[in-house]
Amino acid sequence: MTDFFEAAFEAPMSRRRLIKGIAAAGAATWAGTASGRALAATTDHVLRNDFAHFRAIAPSAEDRLDVPDGYEVDLLLKWGDEFGPGLRFGYNCDYSAFFPFRGRSDEGVMWINHEYVTPFFTSDWNASDDPRWNPRVEPYRSIMQQEMKEVGGSLVHVRRASRNRGRWVVVENSQYNRRFYGDSPQIPYTGPVAGTSLVPRTVAGTLANCSGCHTPWGTVLSCEENHQSYGLQRRMPFQLGWIRGNGSTPQEVNYYVGEPGTNVDGQRVGDNWPHNGYVVEVDPFTGRAVKHTALGRIHHENVAIRIARDGRVVAYTGDDAPAADGMFFKFVSSGRFRRGMSREDGMRLLADGQLYVAQWFPEANDPAVDHGRGRWHPLNMRDPESCAFTTAWIEKNIVPAAGGNLRQFRVPRAEDCEVLPGTQQRVLIALTSARGRPADPAAYGVVRLLREDSANPDEREFGWVDLLEGGQQTGFANPDNMAFSSERELWVVTDISGSSLNRPGRNFEWHMNNAIFYVPLRGPNAMTAFRFANGPVDAELTGPTFVPGQKTLFLNVQHPGEETPSRGGRIGDPQTYTSWWPEGNRTAGTGTPAKPKPSLVAIRKT
Ligand code: FEO
Ligand code: CA
Ligand code: CA
Repeated sequence: MTDFFEAAFEAPMSRRRLIKGIAAAGAATWAGTASGRALAATTDHVLRNDFAHFRAIAPSAEDRLDVPDGYEVDLLLKWGDEFGPGLRFGYNCDYSAFFPFRGRSDEGVMWINHEYVTPFFTSDWNASDDPRWNPRVEPYRSIMQQEMKEVGGSLVHVRRASRNRGRWVVVENSQYNRRFYGDSPQIPYTGPVAGTSLVPRTVAGTLANCSGCHTPWGTVLSCEENHQSYGLQRRMPFQLGWIRGNGSTPQEVNYYVGEPGTNVDGQRVGDNWPHNGYVVEVDPFTGRAVKHTALGRIHHENVAIRIARDGRVVAYTGDDAPAADGMFFKFVSSGRFRRGMSREDGMRLLADGQLYVAQWFPEANDPAVDHGRGRWHPLNMRDPESCAFTTAWIEKNIVPAAGGNLRQFRVPRAEDCEVLPGTQQRVLIALTSARGRPADPAAYGVVRLLREDSANPDEREFGWVDLLEGGQQTGFANPDNMAFSSERELWVVTDISGSSLNRPGRNFEWHMNNAIFYVPLRGPNAMTAFRFANGPVDAELTGPTFVPGQKTLFLNVQHPGEETPSRGGRIGDPQTYTSWWPEGNRTAGTGTPAKPKPSLVAIRKT
């Protein structure tokens, strides 16, 4: 059987043929689905799990969550749902992880990130109606405090009911149910920044939690991404929060004031106050949490782990910087993982080690180049500034010394990374806004393969190749979160921004709503993207995760109806909302006209 990954590296000409082959198959898939003749996503005969064989669905612009025939969707938790005394499910669910109880695949604890808020829905506040936002005074101060309760993360006890056709349900009032907020509980730091004057001993809460991963020792890593959006002087990635300040000068102001641990009058805010922007580790069964500064302070989008043969932990993590491209990192622990080690001991592994940043040759983001080499550069772990102001420190200390240029360090939005299951040297990175080859008028994104030259965690050299390119030929665009249902089966969600989605003249009309795709990695349909589910209007599907045995795919539906304010929506008038999902279907005009609600769903075979 062809190893596409090796073929891509070892024979450039066959790699080009391979990509052409992908394009042809992808085009057939897309054309077939568009005309209603969906292709069956059959791969090879070895694959027998519940998600390996389905009929790919057509693109859709409708306000519903579509899945193929033969599957059903359990709506497990929607925004605002109570799942314990005083516990409400937060807004904009992103990454999720499932921790099965010992020996079970039908019961466990889930961690779900709540990344950010849409003030129009969460606070009935619309920037264009009320340009006076001043979080130092009421009512804005209360709005900010309330929104702190919408973000962070949820720990939820779930199980499959023995009745009701095996639907997934929440176990209410379970001792495992908890909430983490933007301002609580208190969380200690580990690593080079801990114990310095840069941060207090503990910090209140966690925020901007985007993607993450689960660890081999049974905890979850949750990544604080757009932490710069939380402070008085902010740089705002989401247009919703932009308002006009004094006179007509646009100010970069967001929906929160002060980072956790400060108050609204705090002097040091934004990038001068490095409380957040770390990888947070949580024990899902006890709720104990730490913020690891040794993995750097960046717009942490994601993290992926492998255990080296000597037991050291290797963690890859990407920086999804708003407005400018971010960088890509590798961390190698000093301590070693041992099979059967306690979660408590495991939570010390990421506290101490060596962080590296990647330099890409010939360029990290040139549409005319789709493969090359790379080098890892070590940061100075004895200098806490390297872990508190990481990319600025690299620009000052590593880029000039490396003898290259900044473009070799900046990747086009690393929205996710995953170590290829069963391998030591291969990492897939979703570069959401990369321009592929042939260069398209739109930045459709690529999935890039990074291959370490050796399995040694200290390896300084790697090769890279863009394996899967977004675009009309492949049928998907802007890859974001990835997951595996087996070593041979990749799942990719898309994150086309609301300002481009279904908008004429933006080059994304063909894609319609954001979706999740199934990409077999081997067999006759290898590297062909099959559309498995479509999200509702304006939504992004996030946090795909399979239970052991692959009987269920958990998925989050993030920011449905997010474009409502930019499309003239009026507070309290559902007829002006772009989505009513999940309580109604805005495009069909059915169900209950209501605020759209980000939600966690479970998808199973009927
Ligand atoms: Fe939270 Fe970069 O997506
Ligand atoms: Ca993401
Ligand atoms: Ca995203």
